[in-house]
Amino acid sequence: MKGLILSGGKGTRLRPLTYTSAKQLIPVANKPILFYGIEFMRDAGISEIGIIVGDTRAEIMERVGDGSLWGIDIEYIHQAEPLGLAHAVLTAEKFIGDDEFTMYLGDNLLRAGITSIVNEFKKIKPHCMILLTPVSNPSQFGVAELNDDGSVKKLVEKPAEPKSNLALVGVYLFNKKIFEASRKIKPSFRGELEITDAIQQLSDDGHNVHSSIVEGWWKDTGKLDDMLEANRLVLDTLEKKIEGRVDEASKIEGRVIVGPNSRVINSSIRGPVIIGRNAVIENAFVGPYTSIADKCHISDCELEHSIILEESIIRDIPGRLTDSLIGRKAIIEKCDIKPQATRVMLGDSSWVGLG
Ligand code: DAU
Repeated sequence: MKGLILSGGKGTRLRPLTYTSAKQLIPVANKPILFYGIEFMRDAGISEIGIIVGDTRAEIMERVGDGSLWGIDIEYIHQAEPLGLAHAVLTAEKFIGDDEFTMYLGDNLLRAGITSIVNEFKKIKPHCMILLTPVSNPSQFGVAELNDDGSVKKLVEKPAEPKSNLALVGVYLFNKKIFEASRKIKPSFRGELEITDAIQQLSDDGHNVHSSIVEGWWKDTGKLDDMLEANRLVLDTLEKKIEGRVDEASKIEGRVIVGPNSRVINSSIRGPVIIGRNAVIENAFVGPYTSIADKCHISDCELEHSIILEESIIRDIPGRLTDSLIGRKAIIEKCDIKPQATRVMLGDSSWVGLG
């Protein structure tokens, strides 16, 4: 079986970060979201993976490399335009050949990985297997309506009036019949060749579409709140590990990871928290569910429930910074010049919530 990870697309809902970086490389608990998918595939015994890339391909190829980091082979497949998930499948046809394959959306995260799902597919051998999970906002996903016996009745992409609360999770298993079905469908209302429509086509053509309900949590990390929730869920699974230096005036509570060469000085850290390498936390409070990436400098301030990317500086700010996602090399600091006012220099499509 081969693997196909979709890491193209534009990531408009995470601007401005996605102007300069691929959304699949935004870290959750200090690890790019895309790496979780690669590791799940490797753990399921998939050693040949194709990654669909678009405009952000240079950065993805540089970070991920040829797969040797994980002991597997990774190839890149360029999709010139993000014309839909079924279009991405067609773009990968040569790479897949006659093999069965698992397709994984590069911005999705599953707690339990995909090993049991891959094994179930190999045992049942349907033409396609989809995963479903109940959600409170089904119209933001592909939605499945099931028959009384649990078989798939109808699949609709982002329906205005969903017939069930069962969303399609971003992991799909296929055999080569999906190429034929993808060629038969037309672009949707959003101008994309939808994988949901291609799977419906498979079913209309009489092929066996098997569905399975996902156990435990699953996240599509397309938006800020979803990223923060994914970060929370992953941090909850990590164990305490202090590799950097924590001075005697500091207090560490709960599951806290302090990476190599990082220093915690006169600060209070309440886990779950992860701090990367070469970071400095000084005279600060870092509260639960915070991920601070490598080389950040956090001083004389309080923050919690946030994701801070590499080399950012947060110092001497009033109040507590919370529920935030801060990009690379950002600076948030107290400003002493007169008149006393809030001053910002923000990238396009930024968002600031002042308390
Ligand atoms: O997350 C699950 C949902 O994913 C499903 O419930 C939906 O049925 C499915 O259509 C998909 O919906 P999204 O609107 O969330 O898909 P998105 O456009 O965010 O793309 C998912 C991933 O695939 C993302 O990592 C970008 C990548 N992608 C997307 C498109 C449209 C590509 O590589 N190429 C593309 O053409």
